[in-house]
Amino acid sequence: MNQEFSTDLIQALNKVAILTVTDLQGHIIFANEQFCHLSGYSQEELLGAKHSIVNSGTHTKEFFSVMWKTVATGNVWFGEVCNRAKDGHLYWLQATIFPIFDQETHKIRNYAAIRFDITEKKNYEKILKRRASDYLAAIETTDGFCQIENNGNFLEVSDSYCHITGYSRQELLSMNISDMDATDNIDERTENLNCIIRGDGRTFEMMRRRKDNSIWAAEITATRSTTDNNSIFVFLHDVTERKEMEKRNEDLRHQLNHIQKLDSIGRLTAGLAHDFNNILASILGYTEMSQIISDDLLDDEIKTDLKQNLEQVEIAGKRAAELVSKMLTYCRQSTEKKIHEISPRPTPEVIEEVLKMLRVGLTETISIELDVSDKAPNILIDSIELHQVLTNLLVNARDAIGIVGGGTIKIRLTTIMIDSSNCLCDACLTVLQGGFIQLSISDNGSGISKEMISQVFDPFFTTKDVGEGTGLGLSVVSGIVHQSRGHILIDSELGVGTTFKLLFPIVVP
Ligand SMILES: Nc1ncnc2c1ncn2[C@@H]1O[C@H](COP(=O)(O)OP(=O)(O)O)[C@@H](O)[C@H]1O
Ligand SMILES: [Mg+2]
Repeated sequence: MNQEFSTDLIQALNKVAILTVTDLQGHIIFANEQFCHLSGYSQEELLGAKHSIVNSGTHTKEFFSVMWKTVATGNVWFGEVCNRAKDGHLYWLQATIFPIFDQETHKIRNYAAIRFDITEKKNYEKILKRRASDYLAAIETTDGFCQIENNGNFLEVSDSYCHITGYSRQELLSMNISDMDATDNIDERTENLNCIIRGDGRTFEMMRRRKDNSIWAAEITATRSTTDNNSIFVFLHDVTERKEMEKRNEDLRHQLNHIQKLDSIGRLTAGLAHDFNNILASILGYTEMSQIISDDLLDDEIKTDLKQNLEQVEIAGKRAAELVSKMLTYCRQSTEKKIHEISPRPTPEVIEEVLKMLRVGLTETISIELDVSDKAPNILIDSIELHQVLTNLLVNARDAIGIVGGGTIKIRLTTIMIDSSNCLCDACLTVLQGGFIQLSISDNGSGISKEMISQVFDPFFTTKDVGEGTGLGLSVVSGIVHQSRGHILIDSELGVGTTFKLLFPIVVP
């Protein structure tokens, strides 16, 4: 090479690189300005010193032995080396070390090194690595993270995502995100997938299905990758518990509204019933007096007519009084009876008694099946009230069967166990769990629609014609059952039939 060029080159190199030459034992015999600048040592300190003066202790013995072996056998060594400056701080170099041969003997005379400062690059790498691991840690704290292609196929999934879906990473990487959509409706599925793929950073809720088919509610935020427009990052958050809480609160609000409504109807009814009773007392009183006076009438024909009419007034008045008494029973439901006020009798005995009475009024097209074992438990309930409850339910069952022609009413007394936590009393919406004595009355009559079940306990709710139904039967039943610390479940299907299950606490004798 032209002498002028090589001098220029060395000068340029001098400005950007560390140049050193050592003897075969590693003593420095040349060190340029850059080396002094970076290491903090002066030329005097460096010259004659062993190169290990800048050893940082970062690398292993093995590392240096490979390096020396490479150059000692006439080869060039490339690598990254960490050195320590005089003031103790560390710096990184990209080093090229090579042997210099004696032109005559062709033996290695010296070793030379060209090194570039890469401290900044190494620090940046360190920051990037730390950031990457921070991101990974942050991602793992979400309930699920995945990266998908534009068509919804998975590109990457976090461990947490595998955990929440129940699928392995391997399985997920051959699946599509819409495979886990809880809906089977194709249009809805497509709409949901589009929502995710849009990746506009908006958060929305979706029901998802796990591998074991269980359903969970996810809050999903999807954003498009800024570096690669063909992929979308999806963050999922499990909000199942929050949704259940919201549902529970909604039920409670509903329950409270219902109680308030019943309370106000109760007050109104109590007032009306009271006034009514007074009026009825007066009607029945005057009827009785008129009956006595009519005895003295001379004209037999008029006397008979009048007597018959007054008898009808008396019958109607007494029926009205019965209705008022039902209203009052309903109103009393908030004042819980004390245990000592109750006069309970063996439950099977009361059931038999009610049936005996009712059989007379039932048409031949209705049969009754009774399933009460000898060991049937007794319900702690006032026997007169149990009478009233059974009568109401059996009359309702009869009416429901009457609509469809003939049928069967089944009465069962058993003990049951409720394990699930989502069984609610149909009248008061209390969660029912554990053991209960169950008295059930089933019919294969007209059935009750789902929407109507929430209404049947409302006082004055009836689907029967005027004069046939008062709409007070079930509100009286509910009042009495709840007074006896019981609850009610209704299983019903339109056109198939209805079962009223009365659940009472198991009484320890
Ligand atoms: N076993 C049953 N099958 C079908 N519907 C029923 C049954 N029991 C009650 N119902 C419905 O609930 C309503 C309310 O019943 P209830 O309070 O006893 O009042 P009522 O019998 O006077 O109508 C009934 O009108 C009827 O629509
Ligand atoms: Mg009724």
